[in-house]
Amino acid sequence: MSSHGPAAPMTARRSGPLTGTADVPGDKSISHRSLILGALAVGETTVTGLLEGDDVLDTAKAMRAFGAEVTRDDAGVWHIHGVGVGGFSEPDNVIDCGNSGTGVRLIMGAMATTPITATFTGDASLRGRPMGRITDPIALFGAASYGRQGGRLPMTIVGAAEPVPVRYVTPMPSAQVKSAVLLAGLNAPGQTQVIEKEATRDHSERMLAGFGAQITTEDAPEGRVITLTGQPELRPQSIVVPRDPSSAAFPVAAALITEGSDVLVPNIGLNPTRAGLFTTLREMGADLSFENERVEGGEPVADLRARFSDAMQGIEVPPERAPSMIDEYPILSVVAALSSGKTVMRGVKELRVKESDRIDAMARGLEACGVRIEEDEDTLIVHGMGAGGVPGGATCAARLDHRIAMSFLCLGMAAKNPVQVDDAGPIATSFPIFVPLMRRLGADLAGG
Ligand code: S3P
Repeated sequence: MSSHGPAAPMTARRSGPLTGTADVPGDKSISHRSLILGALAVGETTVTGLLEGDDVLDTAKAMRAFGAEVTRDDAGVWHIHGVGVGGFSEPDNVIDCGNSGTGVRLIMGAMATTPITATFTGDASLRGRPMGRITDPIALFGAASYGRQGGRLPMTIVGAAEPVPVRYVTPMPSAQVKSAVLLAGLNAPGQTQVIEKEATRDHSERMLAGFGAQITTEDAPEGRVITLTGQPELRPQSIVVPRDPSSAAFPVAAALITEGSDVLVPNIGLNPTRAGLFTTLREMGADLSFENERVEGGEPVADLRARFSDAMQGIEVPPERAPSMIDEYPILSVVAALSSGKTVMRGVKELRVKESDRIDAMARGLEACGVRIEEDEDTLIVHGMGAGGVPGGATCAARLDHRIAMSFLCLGMAAKNPVQVDDAGPIATSFPIFVPLMRRLGADLAGG
């Protein structure tokens, strides 16, 4: 959806203790991929535990527009009747991906090697984000694109009629770019290769293999080399989506910073390409444990238990860890503000092209709440004020960014004075039950 209605301000007050169990929704990255690969398989894929947030619902709508049948039954299971690789039909209207960079970028890749034309748009946040990182590699397959200046949406893609396979070195660590190239490679003859210097989330590779594609990953001196053989017949799957570690990050962090808290967050996907935040929090001295570790549906899973931790220390986060926690820097910067000493986050310039410029959004909001910040293009440094030490008492701009809104609401639960966000509406894109879930744990959230 390209707009979520009038702004919904929300205020978080010092709360706690937060206690109980937090059942967070399904993984957003895996949910998008289930719908897209289900639409490209021949036959019926079922998906249990799909994230029913606006971003994913927009991808479901898009898959219908490309010809797949996508329905939800009364038990909440999603059914996708796919059209097969190369079987997308031309949408008869503009595809609106709402707030979702993952949705639009993966879908552009998926249609780029089929001889159809599609026009994409999104909300004000998505229309401001760069699409050149997708249009550059899909041009190598033979697709053409016509967008606004700076490679912005709205944008029309004309899929290649006679696609050729591609060997592509991703210029930035991005699972979206890698995945778009692999999805485009599905309908190209021969072998498509993606090389990434730093490993990013590998859900596409795992799921493509699960659907029966021939795909290999090899660690070579030049980086991670992923090789996909084109034009497979994808076999439909029964997918159980693990719960989202990026959503779990919010109740976990809120428990760590809010006095007296003890919260269990069960069944969280702990794929090592996603779990960097939890490693970092433990290095800072968080009382965070993994219970009941197991493997489900090919992904490692555990129950997370987080207890209030009043002696967390700032650290230097290793830059090479960034891809495995890229969406978690906003909430980490909140934990950092309530720890002692400084937390240094380097190698994070990709944060500037997320749903908002997340370095700027966190820096300005934290400063307004009384926290000292240093930043440059690629770095964010937070000077911690210790447990309970952040003054708060400000209104922070969410900038159409769900993770910024949730981060500042968590800050308000532990700051001395209330913290308001100007618009909590974007939270519905990834974590529609955030507010009732946090209230059940004991959070004092008002408005919205
Ligand atoms: C995602 C990849 C990441 C992440 C986004 C989800 C994905 O983006 O920030 O929330 O599902 O592939 P980049 O590929 O831009 O790093």
